Parts: sequence; structure tokens; C-alpha cells
Amino acid sequence: MKIENKRVMVTGGAGFIGSNLVDELSKKNEVIVIDDFSSGKRENLKQHENSSSVKIIEADIRDKGKMFEYTRGVEVLFNLAVRCLRISIHDPEVNNDVNATGTLNLLMAAMENKIDRFVYCSTSEIYGTAKTVPMNEDHPKEPLTVYGASKFAGELYTKAFTNVHGYPAMVVRPFNTYGPREHFEGPYGEVIPKFFVRVLNDEQPIVFGTGDQTRDFTFVSDSVRGMIMAAECDEMIGGAVNIACGQEVTINNIAELVIETSGKENLEPRYEKDRPGDVIRHYADTSKAEKMFNYKPQISIREGIKLFYEWFIEEYPDVKECFKQDVIFNWEK
Ligand SMILES: NC(=O)c1ccc[n+]([C@@H]2O[C@H](COP(=O)([O-])OP(=O)(O)OC[C@H]3O[C@@H](n4cnc5c(N)ncnc54)[C@H](O)[C@@H]3O)[C@@H](O)[C@H]2O)c1
Repeated sequence: MKIENKRVMVTGGAGFIGSNLVDELSKKNEVIVIDDFSSGKRENLKQHENSSSVKIIEADIRDKGKMFEYTRGVEVLFNLAVRCLRISIHDPEVNNDVNATGTLNLLMAAMENKIDRFVYCSTSEIYGTAKTVPMNEDHPKEPLTVYGASKFAGELYTKAFTNVHGYPAMVVRPFNTYGPREHFEGPYGEVIPKFFVRVLNDEQPIVFGTGDQTRDFTFVSDSVRGMIMAAECDEMIGGAVNIACGQEVTINNIAELVIETSGKENLEPRYEKDRPGDVIRHYADTSKAEKMFNYKPQISIREGIKLFYEWFIEEYPDVKECFKQDVIFNWEK
């Protein structure tokens, strides 16, 4: 199914990945954004302010009645609304309510309103730490956090709707995604933007644990393209697929790249206590995505870090102001 001239809903569309997905989908479709703006920002969608193809609705996916109402007439639904991993450490209940129950609400609404395709945006966190690498879609699922567990519940509910009702739903599993509009602030801050904010303020980047942990960092345009390609692939119904760069990088490598890109070679990382439930190793096998819909990531980590840096200094010329919002142990209450 080609996603063109459709009415597409994106939940979490004001967030980091969601807003990048809205930019791409709105080139050829009408897009309805559902977001409660708990971590999402209106400015992420400011380019669509006067557009007739993007409609923004402030709503909570936990509100079942509203989800039944707003999904009427929708043809494709991407569910990205989420409460993040760090929130799950001190507020597991809200994580479950949004990530798992919210997904169930949307599945019920989507089936009732006969939405042609439901795409659940999962995460590599459902695997836990790698037991074998590269990690393909059959890798054991042993999430380490309530976030990972609640996202896995969302996956299982999505698959159950296909198993039980033949409903056309699928799961995409992005690995760690980075790029423009990624959060640096407070509990939402992610490692790459947090490193940049500190380094650009002549502060040491802070690494939790040894820094030998690895991730398969994927530039947001590659994640978004992969998600849309998966959604268009009819054979993906009832299935799940990794969307990643296919490159294993340590957190120490990231610190070095950020320091080098910022031209602050005098700085080196400061090491602090482990973050609870931190995954030690992630490295994706992307061959299923390549085989099923010819997905090939285009942006290497070196290029992506440079692209992010260029975007960041343009968007936030006042880096001192950003530093005020840096919280070091940002999973603590
Ligand atoms: N960022 C990553 O590295 C990464 C990696 C793998 C998977 N994912 C997945 O991608 C999706 C988007 O993540 P992101 O990094 O863009 O996060 P984000 O926090 O930037 O976006 C999440 C959005 O959901 C909204 N939201 C939260 N609760 C809501 C609710 N109850 N009702 C409506 N909207 C609500 C937030 O306001 C925000 O705009 C999530 O499903 C996440 O699990 C992210």
C-alpha cells in the first residue's frame, strides 16, 4: 500500500521522531497529529502552522472516547506517543498507562473505525541487552526497564489484533535515534544532545558507567524513512522489523566525536555511576528490512553527529541558556 493521498494520524507527532515523521508524511498526505504536549513541543510543528495538510489536536491517548472519535476517517495510524525510559524509573505507572494501555485504546479505536493500517512504533529496548549480535528480530525479548516492558506489551497487543481479528497492524523497532529536535532538557535529555550542551559550554560530557556500553545510533531521517517503507510493505502485516543503522558504537566513541566536532579537544569525559537498567550492548541486524522493503541506512554516525551539531548551533545560538536545563542524573525524581 502506497502512503500517498491518505489521511494519516501520528500520535506523539509533536515529539522528536514524530515531528520528523509528520514532515515527511505531510509532503504527500493529510496528517492529523495527536499529542498531549507532555514532552512534545509546538515549535517542532511550527513549519505546518498555516498548512491545510497538517491538523494538530491536543489530546491524550489514554482518553479512549476521544481516540474513538478522532480516529474516524483515518486511513493509516502511526502510534509514537510515549512516556520515556527515564520517567519509567520513577513513575512506572504512567509509563504503563500511556505506552501499553494507550496503545490498546488506539488499537480498539482503529479496528472499530476500520483504519487500513496500524503501525506501532516499538523500540530496541524490548530486547534488553544483546545476547548474540547482530540482533535480529528473533533475538530474546528481555526488557530491563518498565519502559521496555510497557513497549513490549504494546507490541504484543498489536500482534494480538492481527492474530485474533486479522486486523492489519505491524510493529517497527527503531534503535536509538538521534538528530534534529532530539531533547537535551531535563528528564527527556538524550545522550548526544546532552553531550553537546555540556561540551559547547566547556563542561565535561558525563558518561554513566564505563562508557563501553554500545548502541546502534540511527539518524532520524533513516528511522523515519524506514518506518514509512515498513508501513507501505503489505507483507509486514502481523510482523515486526528492526530499523537501525547497523553500526555498533560505544558511548565513549560518541563522547570523542562530540568533542572533536565541537572543536573542544581539551575536554574529556567525566565518569559517574551507572544508570539503573542501562542496556550494555545493542547492535542491530537490519537484513530483514533490507530484504522485505530494500531499506538501507544512508547516514553514518560521523556524518549524523556533524548534521546534528550544525542544526543545534543554528537552532540554539544561546548554549548557556540550554545548559540551565541540563540535569545530570535525569532519571531521578
Ligand atoms: N528516541 C529514540 O531513540 C527512540 C528509539 C526507539 C524507539 N523510539 C520510539 O519512538 C517514539 C517517539 O519517541 P521520541 O524519542 O520521539 O519521544 P518524544 O518524547 O520526543 O515524543 C513522544 C511524544 O508523545 C507525546 N505523548 C506522551 N504521552 C502522550 C499521551 N498520553 N497522549 C498523547 N501524546 C503523548 C509527547 O508529548 C511527545 O510529543 C516512541 O514510541 C519511542 O518509544 C524512540
